[in-house]
Amino acid sequence: MSVAVLDDFSRAVTDGLSRARKVIPARYFYDFRGSQLFEDITRLPEYYPTRTERALLERHGDDIARLVGYGRPLVEFGAGAAIKARILLAAMQARTFVPIDISGAFLEDSAQDLARAHPNVRVLPVAGDFTRAIALPALDGPLVGFFPGSTIGNFDHAAAIDLLRSFRRTLGAGARLVIGIDTRKNPHLLEAAYDDAAGVTAQFNLNLLHRINRELDGTIPVDRFEHRAIWHDALGRIEMHLVASDDLEFHAAGQRFRMRANETIHTENSYKYTQPEARLLARAAGWEPAAFWTDKDQLFGLHVWVASEEEAQP
Ligand code: AVI
Repeated sequence: MSVAVLDDFSRAVTDGLSRARKVIPARYFYDFRGSQLFEDITRLPEYYPTRTERALLERHGDDIARLVGYGRPLVEFGAGAAIKARILLAAMQARTFVPIDISGAFLEDSAQDLARAHPNVRVLPVAGDFTRAIALPALDGPLVGFFPGSTIGNFDHAAAIDLLRSFRRTLGAGARLVIGIDTRKNPHLLEAAYDDAAGVTAQFNLNLLHRINRELDGTIPVDRFEHRAIWHDALGRIEMHLVASDDLEFHAAGQRFRMRANETIHTENSYKYTQPEARLLARAAGWEPAAFWTDKDQLFGLHVWVASEEEAQP
């Protein structure tokens, strides 16, 4: 791990645990173990987003291709293994794929797999943080962005608008964006998806404390914390917390912290959007909604947006 990444994590943890309401940003879930646990979550019976979005892409791949244009370059933000992008690449008959991911090594491996599976597609991986401005290689536009998995839900509304605006700038004039956004639904389904019977999401949440112990010389008694997922209706989001079961004292990154019994560390928000709310989000960020599909139980939404003309000027 680079010194800069470690410093960033250390600062986020010491700052977050010093607050009256303790918080650690969700992006720190994804160390190697956390990424493995997230992969396991995507296969859980309770976690409907992954399989529902994949089925929507398979069902509507041709509709999407007609809307975004055949043969256009596809740019995926936060690509990982780019499993869902393969469905779109085939449907769109794309000849260029630009996966953007923060993990350079992982990206190289998955880019090679992808190039083998799709020999007609030129794969141009870009290692970088998609939440910051990114320079793309020279491409023949207009470009098609892809942001699946409802990752947008992990950003609060203001940050989500900023991020979608920056995608708009990165992709340029005439761009299209294919984006998966989780829907508001029965709170029981939502809470089960974030607190599964096998306890995988609990392990994913608790791994953040193990990560602090591993990387920041922490002494956190992980077994004295419990995972909690709650639906907050007024805010339209699932919140994940780590709840202290007793009064505790521990060290991390050279500092001492205390927690009272039942005090929590807020680790993640996952916002859910009705279709009208998703349309408002698009327009606030310089995109015009062009198409929307959902499954028969309205568990997940797949949207195509078009860059608004007036936003085209820098
Ligand atoms: C990555 N992200 C969209 C997931 C979500 O559903 O918010 C992360 C996750 N957290 C718990 N389960 C899955």
